[in-house]
Amino acid sequence: MALNLVMLGPPGAGKGTQAERFAREHGIPKVSTGDILREAVHSDSELGRKVKTVMERGELVGDDLIIGIVRERLVQPDAVAGFVLDGFPRTAAQANALDQITAERGPVICVEIQVPDEELVRRVRARRVCEDCGANADAFVHQADALPDLCQNTDRCRSVGPKWVARSDDSETVVRERLKIYWRDTRPMIEYYSARPTFRRIDGLQTPEQVREALVSAVASALGLPAGQLQSLVAKKLSGVKGGARP
Ligand code: AP5
Repeated sequence: MALNLVMLGPPGAGKGTQAERFAREHGIPKVSTGDILREAVHSDSELGRKVKTVMERGELVGDDLIIGIVRERLVQPDAVAGFVLDGFPRTAAQANALDQITAERGPVICVEIQVPDEELVRRVRARRVCEDCGANADAFVHQADALPDLCQNTDRCRSVGPKWVARSDDSETVVRERLKIYWRDTRPMIEYYSARPTFRRIDGLQTPEQVREALVSAVASALGLPAGQLQSLVAKKLSGVKGGARP
């Protein structure tokens, strides 16, 4: 059985923070549509030029484009034993596409992180990302008012001075627009998922560590397993996959 996890929730709920940690701890890739699009904008690729303005306005990129990106990513060998999806699906069309893409891949666990709107706006406005690589300052280690001296994600980040900046779509006006779109397009889709036996909700107002623990318990309970057995699930799946996963 693969470990297929979808993180759901509004902007600033902590999806990316938890997806990153869960993926690393369980040896499966984090697939973040926001990260993929931001990387494309950063590198000024054709895709980046197409989506830049849409993202800066806080609107959603077109379904066909984003579905194509996810479809292509999830067939890569490192995603065979499972994946953590962050930021997808966000519309009914994307949810239908995900059902098709994962039809032969075992259960898909959906976990919604719940956080009230005013706390979301506070978190997003306080967020700082590395100007070089785009990574968030790690909420597990640092609070926004005590940013680390260096970003540790890439050689380049490690060798240059601190460059923490606001994300270009994190202004209050754009965040409120993102929230409006979330309630209009994404929230009804989550309600549709909530009827499934593999759907779970967790409280995102807790500390990052408490949310992490709640997430592991939620995934284990959705699979009917003790929390300690999630890792061995991935290991077993990988032992049957030629080439294995990337480190
Ligand atoms: P995306 O990057 O997916 O943004 P988002 O969904 O709006 O989510 P965020 O990254 O803002 O928040 P998060 O829930 O990941 O929280 P995080 O962990 O960072 O999408 C950006 C744009 O790309 C979209 O607007 C759209 O244009 C486009 N796009 C992407 N996917 C798309 C799709 N499928 N379809 C169409 N368009 C798409 O945490 C937030 C902050 O809070 C951080 O500073 C963190 O350190 C802190 N924090 C985290 N956890 C805690 C905690 N427990 N307590 C206190 N602080 C915490």
